[in-house]
Amino acid sequence: MVNNESNGKIALITGANKGLGFEMSRQLAQHGLTVLIAGRNLQAAQTAATTLQNEGLLAEAIALDINNSSQIQEVVQYIGDRFGKLDVLINNAGVILDEGWIISNASYISLDIIRKTFETNFFALVEVTQTLLPLILKSQSGRIVNMASIEGSLTLHADPNSPIYDAKPFAYNASKAAVNSFTVHLAHELRNTPVKVNSAHPGWVKTELGGEGAMMDISEGAKTGVQLAILPDDGPSGGFFHLGEPVPW
Ligand SMILES: NC(=O)c1ccc[n+]([C@@H]2O[C@H](COP(=O)([O-])OP(=O)(O)OC[C@H]3O[C@@H](n4cnc5c(N)ncnc54)[C@H](OP(=O)(O)O)[C@@H]3O)[C@@H](O)[C@H]2O)c1
Repeated sequence: MVNNESNGKIALITGANKGLGFEMSRQLAQHGLTVLIAGRNLQAAQTAATTLQNEGLLAEAIALDINNSSQIQEVVQYIGDRFGKLDVLINNAGVILDEGWIISNASYISLDIIRKTFETNFFALVEVTQTLLPLILKSQSGRIVNMASIEGSLTLHADPNSPIYDAKPFAYNASKAAVNSFTVHLAHELRNTPVKVNSAHPGWVKTELGGEGAMMDISEGAKTGVQLAILPDDGPSGGFFHLGEPVPW
């Protein structure tokens, strides 16, 4: 159900100009949150925000290349001045730079590709989160959602019967395993605060990154991240989920 009434909560979604980030923004705004559509291309973020505004939703564009430290600082300054807190951070922006999904390339993929993948999928995610954390701690119910992937699951990669056994693009998968490690460590550190930190696997979703073969529609794919972003106060922290069900680490 669409709720055009603001509930006073502010959400920032990285890489929100398209794909899952855009659809999670829409669904969060339908729950009454004001969504900050962060994009490295401000014009694309503005177009996305205008689309949601035209649907009667509370959305604003914000320029954020997560690999740009000074832009991260500017975003913190802006949110602090404008809202004084941040209720939801969805670390959604991500890349795959391996040459495909159904490959096994750990023996030869270049360190350059591995480093570039980690720069966006892991180091920038950590920097964005650490820098925004003081504002998230000012919320009465802070929620951090890290868009990981089932591809980051070591348990499933080690199981010859798992559906992802032959999907081994090493740079992407290792970066998502590292994201899951961050989730567990940060959730532990914040365990005595209201902030909840969880990893999401959205499903294999029809987006640019998901590619041609993906099975799930974007509206369904957005649900896991949205559920984790609006968890009640007695909800879990430090977990890894897909549509409410735990995913093995
Ligand atoms: N689709 C799936 O099946 C699937 C499955 C598991 C996990 N995931 C994860 O879900 C997240 C979203 O994926 P998606 O499928 O929606 O991908 P997508 O359609 O390719 O969108 C990726 C988004 O990330 C942005 N981005 C990339 N690098 C960035 C940077 N340095 N700074 C800011 N934004 C940046 C892109 O911006 P530009 O438009 O400017 O390029 C775009 O907005 C990713 O973390 C992905 O790993 C997806």
